[in-house]
Amino acid sequence: LLNQGLEDLKSTSEQDELNELRVHLLGKKGPITKVLRGMKDLSPEERPVVGSFANEVRDRLQEAIDARKEEIDQKLLTVKLEKEKIDVTLPGKPAARGNAHVIQQIIDQIEDLFLGMGYQVLSGPEVEEDRYNFEMMNLPKDHPARDMQDTFYITKDILMRTQTSPMQARTMEKHDFSKGPLKMISPGVVYRRDTDDPTHSHQFHQVEGLVIDKHVTMADLKGTLELVAHELFGDRFDVRLRPSYFPFTEPSVEADITCFNCGGKGCAVCKHTGWIEVLGAGMVHPNVLKMAGVDSDIYGGFAFGLGPDRFAMLKYGVDDIRNFYLDDERFLNQFSMKG
Ligand code: PHE
Repeated sequence: LLNQGLEDLKSTSEQDELNELRVHLLGKKGPITKVLRGMKDLSPEERPVVGSFANEVRDRLQEAIDARKEEIDQKLLTVKLEKEKIDVTLPGKPAARGNAHVIQQIIDQIEDLFLGMGYQVLSGPEVEEDRYNFEMMNLPKDHPARDMQDTFYITKDILMRTQTSPMQARTMEKHDFSKGPLKMISPGVVYRRDTDDPTHSHQFHQVEGLVIDKHVTMADLKGTLELVAHELFGDRFDVRLRPSYFPFTEPSVEADITCFNCGGKGCAVCKHTGWIEVLGAGMVHPNVLKMAGVDSDIYGGFAFGLGPDRFAMLKYGVDDIRNFYLDDERFLNQFSMKG
């Protein structure tokens, strides 16, 4: 029985099989139990001999079963480990990463350029007071030029800003000119009550620029705008200034850059002028200086307001401004900086 049992054990390879064999050998209906049960029929001399022999057989079988169980467990574990092994040399799956919006990329570029020239970069409130958005920009309540920028009113005196120009008044008001000139740009979102179409969006971006010091001239303005054009588009882009009108600058200009499409030769995109309009600018109006508490006899300067949306459209040939606000990844990923 012992030898047969030990032999059978060798051929077991699974837990279930082993368990069956254990029940068969050592269970209630097994041969050993039967022998031990039959003890009562034996003579007193035979009992200790048969008893200890049966016990020995049972113990040896139990030992062998335990050992076999250990072996099987070990084997199962090895197989499992082998199956679950991780190949650390396999290349990883790249995680999807976000990317700066194309408009933000343009703004970042502009910020870098102006930070390098010692300007501050400031942001202002999108929900603005009528006072800053219009009145302090030399647009009193009934001024006809308010029609140029129809806006969303929150209350009679509070509105969604139509331009970043209120930041001119806000910064001049605070600036301590005894400590040096004021040089700042202020990027942000502005709102107009426009019906959305390929060239209009009720929400878009502007970057305001302002320099106030003694002896600032129009030449400084033009030189600064040329730097912006070269930085964003390339050295072959020139800037020209055309007379224009804004209530808060005098003189006022609109700045054009060389047409990106024909390089200045004249084409349909630039209506055969060779130039594309990109921003408004001018020398800060004395009324604006005065209302912000700046002595206009001593100080003066230039301001400009450029549109990153328009810049992005020109630079990348985007023909519908609404693309920038639809959050369609197929559009936005084209401007991914990942490579
Ligand atoms: N705020 C003007 C606009 O939104 C642009 C501008 C800014 C013009 C600064 C002149 C000076 O159209």
